[in-house]
Amino acid sequence: MEVTIFGSGYVGLVTGACLAEVGNDVLCIDVDPDKIDLLNSGGVPIYEPGLDELIRNNREAGRLRFSTDAEAGVKHGLFQFIAVGTPPDEDGSADLQYVLSVARTIGQHMEGYRILVDKSTVPVGTADKVAETVRTALAERDQSIDFDVVSNPEFLKEGAAIEDFMRPDRIIVGTDNPRTAELLRALYAPFNRNRDRLMVMDVRSAELTKYAANAMLATKISFMNELSNIAEIVGADIEKVRVGIGSDPRIGYQFIYPGCGYGGSCFPKDVRALERTARGVGYEPQLLQAVEAVNFRQKELLFDKLKAQFDGDLAGRTIALWGLAFKPNTDDMREASSRVLMESLWAAGAKVQAFDPVAMDEARRLYGERPDLVLAEDATAALVGADALVIVTEWTQFRSPNFRLIRDTLARPLLLDGRNILDPQQATAAGLTYLSIGRAPAT
Ligand code: UGA
Repeated sequence: MEVTIFGSGYVGLVTGACLAEVGNDVLCIDVDPDKIDLLNSGGVPIYEPGLDELIRNNREAGRLRFSTDAEAGVKHGLFQFIAVGTPPDEDGSADLQYVLSVARTIGQHMEGYRILVDKSTVPVGTADKVAETVRTALAERDQSIDFDVVSNPEFLKEGAAIEDFMRPDRIIVGTDNPRTAELLRALYAPFNRNRDRLMVMDVRSAELTKYAANAMLATKISFMNELSNIAEIVGADIEKVRVGIGSDPRIGYQFIYPGCGYGGSCFPKDVRALERTARGVGYEPQLLQAVEAVNFRQKELLFDKLKAQFDGDLAGRTIALWGLAFKPNTDDMREASSRVLMESLWAAGAKVQAFDPVAMDEARRLYGERPDLVLAEDATAALVGADALVIVTEWTQFRSPNFRLIRDTLARPLLLDGRNILDPQQATAAGLTYLSIGRAPAT
């Protein structure tokens, strides 16, 4: 089938590459000529395990092409995926200008029936706005060509996006038109074997499902983070509590890991956008607001814990950071807890020596050269002469460190584990002062 994808960012590239992989003829469009040049010369503008290879193979097979020619894109695909960004506005609501500009382009150039598929995370009611925009553009041309707008939110996790697309938990298709639903069912058939995972629902429910899923996951995390702070004060161990409650299948073990807060491009943005949507229709959300407030406080926790160790004065101190990305297997630092910590440390007059397995270039891009940031060669180099080590991201390679080497390399044997990935006993046995989240300091 012919597919056009507008937006060659994270969602667009993964969607395009996976749809091409199963044999579709995919044309990816982006307004950024540099990005398209890079893709056409074999490069990939984002880091995602497996994506390079998938793009390369399908490009070579001629099933995946990249262009800035939007008009050609509209002509190409029966399916017109909209996978452009919806960055938050100043007030937290999703900015729809890119989505609507694609809709307008489609309306300006379409010559036959088209299915517009909203892949971007968009507020409830966006499909209606997209349809209205296409209708207006068609009217300007004195045309009335048939089209449909479908809400088909993506549920990709960074670092596991290919797997998530190839073997989805669910494929949500929001449309009131049974014929369109069948066409999407055919497009998704290769990813929907064994058990039917495709759910057809009305457009607004599909749009809300995406926000509901992310808000629920964010709620689980904030709940555990709040509980971890209570556990610490009452002298309980949140890790034991986690296992204790997770054993109840109604609660489950997944996504109840306490830590130093959630980040990334989705949870913070989506929780805020859902809050805005609720307020926009006259409903004051209580829980969503609390989820966000708890997360905000949790991101400041690492700094507060460090400060307490240095009698409130971090000026002139050097702090080693392991992990800069908002989670492992990505170089994405958007809303990462590391940023809140680094910025607080700098404001307090401290210096940072950081290491991340893949986000070093991203850190350089974000912060540039500055005297109070050293981007270390490797994990051990980050420790040299530092007054403490803070683990901010739970990369696998930090999970089983050489504790004695850490103690001997640090100027002061203080280890703050922001993700509870280490064994307190082992750390303490090696002579480190070990602090973590929701557990009393190990002795
Ligand atoms: C999230 C969702 O998990 C995806 O299902 C969704 O499709 C995606 O957003 C999206 O809307 O596009 P992602 O942002 O890639 O995916 O990252 P997650 O793996 O969900 O992690 C988010 C944050 O929560 C990370 O900072 C992570 O460290 C934190 N987290 C996660 C915890 O603190 N505790 C946990 O138990 C789990």
